[in-house]
Amino acid sequence: MRPMQLERLLHAQGFGSRKECRALIRAGYVSVAGVPCEDPSAEFDPGSTDGSPGLAFAVDDEAWQYRAKAYLMLHKPSGYECSHKPTFHPSVFTLLPRQFLPRDVQCVGRLDQDTTGLLLLSDDGQFIHQWSSGKKRTPKVYEVALKHAADDDFVATLLAGVQLHDEPAPIAAAACERSGDTTLRLTICEGKYHQVKRMIAAAGNRVEALHRSRVGGLALDPALAPGQWRWLEAADLAALADFA
Ligand code: URA
Repeated sequence: MRPMQLERLLHAQGFGSRKECRALIRAGYVSVAGVPCEDPSAEFDPGSTDGSPGLAFAVDDEAWQYRAKAYLMLHKPSGYECSHKPTFHPSVFTLLPRQFLPRDVQCVGRLDQDTTGLLLLSDDGQFIHQWSSGKKRTPKVYEVALKHAADDDFVATLLAGVQLHDEPAPIAAAACERSGDTTLRLTICEGKYHQVKRMIAAAGNRVEALHRSRVGGLALDPALAPGQWRWLEAADLAALADFA
């Protein structure tokens, strides 16, 4: 792999402008593989050309690993907006390390502020487009808490399809099963605005709480508490695509 100057490497990972990164290095805040380095033009092999972990370094004692691309999962808590410019609630980006902002990490699709669960984020435009586009018909699984108990007819209605306002044709759940008297596991393959809430309302009930547990073949990591994130590794990216 082509070596990279330390100053450029830090900049590519979101630690500031070239000038700021140079200053951090010269001031002794940076170490590479555990060894302090005060030379901004020292060259290192970044060790990654994709989302895999590469060179280990630390900035002001914060350990980091170079990744040419960022692919993340966040356990989204309730009360956060999936936007860089939120209106009423804090942004999900406040839950992530600040170095993701200059990398232009974006949400892959959006969850409502009161929805919890699996949110994917990336700085790879093609990946974001691929997994947020409705064309791919990626199944997304939601755990739905309802106001009123659901019976078999209610499930059958969602599976048969409900007419949403402004949609040309009825939309059907790809899968739906009761997980309790007032809870459902619902799978949809589109990603329309407030889709689950609108489908449940069109079928005559109301969503009290909504949690996304899976996107494609990738489940929310149970080790992540609400508000926690982690990198997606190669096995996660393969699982994501494995839903046929
Ligand atoms: N459907 C909704 O209604 N809200 C979400 O956040 C996701 C799917």
